Amino acid sequence: MNNIASSLNNKNKFLILGCGFTGSFFAKTIKQIGCTVLTSSRSEKKDPNNFVFNSENGKVPDEKIFDGVTHILSCIPPDKNGKDPVLGSLKSMLENLSLEWVGYLSTTGVYGNTKGDWVSEIDNPNPFQKRSHKRLNCEREWIESGLPIQIFRLPGIYGPGRSTFEAIRNQKIRVISKKDQVFSRIHVADITNAIIYLLQNKDCLKFHQIINIADDEPSSQIEVIQYCYDLLGLKMPNPILFEDAKKELSPIAQSFWMENRRVSNKLLCKTLGYKLIYKNYKTGLKNCFLNS
Ligand SMILES: NC(=O)c1ccc[n+]([C@@H]2O[C@H](COP(=O)([O-])OP(=O)(O)OC[C@H]3O[C@@H](n4cnc5c(N)ncnc54)[C@H](OP(=O)(O)O)[C@@H]3O)[C@@H](O)[C@H]2O)c1
Repeated sequence: MNNIASSLNNKNKFLILGCGFTGSFFAKTIKQIGCTVLTSSRSEKKDPNNFVFNSENGKVPDEKIFDGVTHILSCIPPDKNGKDPVLGSLKSMLENLSLEWVGYLSTTGVYGNTKGDWVSEIDNPNPFQKRSHKRLNCEREWIESGLPIQIFRLPGIYGPGRSTFEAIRNQKIRVISKKDQVFSRIHVADITNAIIYLLQNKDCLKFHQIINIADDEPSSQIEVIQYCYDLLGLKMPNPILFEDAKKELSPIAQSFWMENRRVSNKLLCKTLGYKLIYKNYKTGLKNCFLNS
């Protein structure tokens, strides 16, 4: 695994709040480094290191869970009112801990539609979708919490078990083409490794509160789908023009096509020196192909 030195160790205790796709990948990796890791889900799991946290029904973890916690990563999206579920339920508990670091996974949706232009952390957020307004509100809640917060803005997340291959295999794929439309993406391993890299090098790198984690090559959806069909040795169905496909799409699916932006990773990869494992969708999807 690149970029990982050895300064995180068993003295560090991580709580991963929201152990879904990214949270579980992060938990597995940080455990391999030797840190203690506890994870949350909304319902009981067999894993003895998992505990229940569900802001929707007020199920909060026992205080004992928080003993000795040094690091927290929240992977939980905003609630339906646009409030942060973790801060809403656990803020006073977190304020009483000696936390070294709190990470929050946000989205690049907060930048809104740039009509294909590049966006970076110095650009003012300009959310377009309702869900992105909620997300920006949660970012603000975290910043105002006074906790040692670092926010990671993420584009479309993919990795083994969650990529275009699953959509093709489950026959959920829609091959849609929209002129000049691109999407940024990030492989789950790069989210994990970038965050660990920043933690490992915390003392020698300038601290940035907000960092984009995206790959080098925003690309059209159709290129990505074509590449997957090629790897599978199958023929891609003929694309449908977005204007024709639109009426068949759910409101959420339509909303993804309403924004067009290229997310810059210069802060992470040039200024801070992180080396991507998967620089583009080709190398990332090849990894998914070989591991699914
Ligand atoms: N997917 C993407 O392409 C994408 C892109 C950019 C940003 N993001 C954001 O990045 C973060 C991680 O993404 P992901 O795709 O890895 O997420 P995910 O797989 O959907 O996992 C979300 C986690 O949050 C937990 N959760 C949700 N609502 C909760 C609540 N009210 N109380 C307690 N726990 C709750 C879920 O619990 P259960 O395990 O019980 O379901 C799950 O563990 C999320 O905030 C997501 O919105 C995602």
